[in-house]
This record gives sequence, C-alpha cells and structure tokens, in this order.
Amino acid sequence: MFMLNGEQLKVDDFFDPSSKDFIHDPKPSLRKLLKEYPIGRFDAWGAWLVTGNRNIADCLLDRRLSTDFNLWEYAPPKKELSEMDSFETLMNNNLFFLNRTDHLRLRKLALPAFSPRIMDQMKVRFAKLVKERFDEIGEPEEFNFATEVAEIIPTQAIASLVGIPRDKFPIFDSLAYGVVRGINPMLSEDERKEATKGVKAGLDLLNELIEEKRSNPTDDFLSTLILAEEEGEKLSNWEMCALTGAVLAAGSDTAVDLHSYLIKALLSHPEQLEELKQDEELIQNAISETLRYESSGKTGLARYVSEDMELLGVEVKKGQMIQLITSTAGLDPNTYDDPDTFDIHRNHDKSISFGQGPHYCIGVTLVRSQTEVMLRELFNRFPNLSLTGDVQYDYDHHNARRMTELTVKTNI
Ligand code: HEM
Repeated sequence: MFMLNGEQLKVDDFFDPSSKDFIHDPKPSLRKLLKEYPIGRFDAWGAWLVTGNRNIADCLLDRRLSTDFNLWEYAPPKKELSEMDSFETLMNNNLFFLNRTDHLRLRKLALPAFSPRIMDQMKVRFAKLVKERFDEIGEPEEFNFATEVAEIIPTQAIASLVGIPRDKFPIFDSLAYGVVRGINPMLSEDERKEATKGVKAGLDLLNELIEEKRSNPTDDFLSTLILAEEEGEKLSNWEMCALTGAVLAAGSDTAVDLHSYLIKALLSHPEQLEELKQDEELIQNAISETLRYESSGKTGLARYVSEDMELLGVEVKKGQMIQLITSTAGLDPNTYDDPDTFDIHRNHDKSISFGQGPHYCIGVTLVRSQTEVMLRELFNRFPNLSLTGDVQYDYDHHNARRMTELTVKTNI
C-alpha cells in the first residue's frame, strides 16, 4: 500500500502555534491543517499531528496510542525511585504515566471525590469564593477580567475542592504552577527544574494535610481519597499527591482560558448574551460552544506510539509522539455545520472538548458548575457589562493562548 512520509507531510512552513499571528487568530492555520493534513509532520515538536474531530476521537480510543510519556523516543531515561526528585516521583505516580490497570484503579478511587453530592457542596463553596472575589473587585468603571477573575477563581476552586485552607492558597499556587508547567514534554531539563521549584513545598503541605485529615476526615477531595483507602483499597501518600497534581495540571489552565474566552465570546455576541440572560438553561451550552469555537490550547493531547502501526495512511513508529490537535476538532465541517459561527444553540453530542475514552475528563462537572456560578454572579453584579476592546495575550505562555488583558466596562 502507498504510504506518505514525513517529508511530504511537513507543516512547519505554515503552522507555528507560538507565533503572534496564531495567538491572535489561530483559525487560518487550523483550517489549513484540517483541510489538507488529517495527519501532518511537525518537526518543531518532533511529532505527528492528527486533526479533525473523528480522527482525533478514533485516536483517543486506540489502545496502541498511549499516554505514557516514558514510551517517547526522546524521553529521558527513567531513573531509579531513589534517584527521583519530588517532581519526578509525583509524575511517576501520575494518572497519565501509569499502566492501564493502575490507571483504572486510581481513577476509580478518585471518582467519589467528584460525586453529585460533593459537587453540590462544591457549588455552595464556589458561590462563596466568587462572591468574595467580586466584593474585592467592588464597583469600578472597568476591570481586567483576565487577571482579576479568570486567573484566580479556577485554582481557588481546586484548592477548595482539595481542602486547602485559605491562608495556604499561595503555597498551593506554586504547586499548581510546577505541575502545570513541568508536565510539558517539550521543556529542557533546566527549564523543568526552574518550573518545578515550588513543588516540594506544595507536597509538604499536602502531606501535612493528609495526616491531619486521616484523624479528622471531612467531605473534601483528600478526605475522600483517605476514606477510599480505608475501604480496603490502599492509596499511598504519593498516589494521593499525584491525584491532586493531576487535578491541578488538568483543571487549572483549561478553566482559566474557558472563563476568559467565554466572557469574550458572549460580550462579542450581545444578542446571544441577552437570550442567555432570559434563559439560563443556555449557560451550559454556551460553555460547550466556547470550548468548540475558541479552543485555547497551543499544543494538543500527547500520545506515544506503543507499536509500529499505520495511522491515517502513514507508517508511524514505536516511540513517536502524536499530538492530537483538538483545536481543529471544533472547526471540522464534517462534524459542525457552519463551524465559524458562534451559536449557543448548537448541538454538542459529538464534542471531544473533554476527551473521550479511558482518560475522559474527570473534572467536567466541577468546571461546568464553577463557570456557571461565576457567570451568574458576574451578570447579577454587572448586567450591562461590555468589552472595551483592550485585549492582550501572553505570547510566552507555555501551552495556551492566554489572555493577560480582557478589560470590561461595568456601565453601572
Ligand atoms: C475547561 C476545562 C477543562 C477542559 C477543557 C478539560 C479537558 C480535558 C481533556 C480533553 C482531558 C483528556 C486528556 C487526554 O485524553 O489526554 C481531560 C482529562 C482530565 N481532566 Fe479535564 N478539563 C477541564 C477541567 C478539568 C478540571 C476542573 C479538573 C479537575 C478538577 C480536570 C481533571 C482532569 C483529570 C484528572 C484528567 C485525567 C483523567 C485520566 O487520565 O483518567 N479537568 N480533561
């Protein structure tokens, strides 16, 4: 059978997700990828790129494509446990790097922490956090939504889920930064060391809390993990810390961008915002639509080939990295009619914004609930909110088209 090779499929001449053009408007190069490259070769990352809703969904279900970073041809040699630093030990227990059996076991033990009962309690806590945040913001003429709300609420929500006391949030923030930044496979050894220097203090804090909650469990994430341990299936402290790290890594950045892009999209489509205010049932659909229309990631979901195989007409080799470019999925005309239009009434049954298969997002209810609480409070306080047009991006952000400025006018 005729196979295409890497040279024929190179995309480096037009695809550069760290460029300013891409950060301002990624759609032209994403559309080109989608149209011409179901699979492409991106030498800048030493990876294959897969595009399109269906192709990515198929890859997410393909057992030959693993999340295990240690399979990567360029992964640093795996150290002995005794030689690993805190960050490396944490990653060694990470959901993404475990074999299938351990992954399933850990996931099963973590799921009760996201049960409907706990999510209902979380909603009450989010409401309190969000109110406090907006009280602090007060009633200014305008404010920067990106830094004053989007950057703060999601990590606080996770800290609150985990059961971190308010005065320890800054230590938890450094842990969050370390795991979110350090997990990026493209970092050099030095960059990773620098990024993860706050991890040790964060882990000390978690270990202290685990010991406290062992004698006095409540209804938070760590207590649920401890109770699961007492019900026969043992979780080590490292596994509990790694689960917390996974929740932080997967749930902070994604939610920060969702907050900013949701507000930008709604304020840019005032007629749809009016509809949403009349019918708050539309909020969840507006969240799905934002994730489709404004997927904020600069990278994709990484997978590593566990055996030589054919993928979309190309021979890929064991150890190679595949990046599933999920930001192309929402623009796929084979899945969505008129994909360039923002429409909060759209059907999202085929959405893969929260993944698919064994690694499907565990925090989907949490982030949906937290975002809804924020949105209701925002428009309760500022019903006439509008954009000023001042938008700035962080061009150096490691994995997202992160806004550093999204100034909104309160019109009160
Ligand atoms: C807008 C926000 C979010 C988006 C778009 C999102 C998206 C995703 C996606 C696409 C995956 C699958 C990754 C893969 O297959 O490689 C995933 C997994 C995961 N997400 Fe989320 N997520 C969000 C928020 C959250 C939050 C708030 C939490 C936790 C509180 C969370 C926890 C996780 C965890 C732990 C996994 C890994 C599950 C596993 O490996 O079994 N996510 N998420």
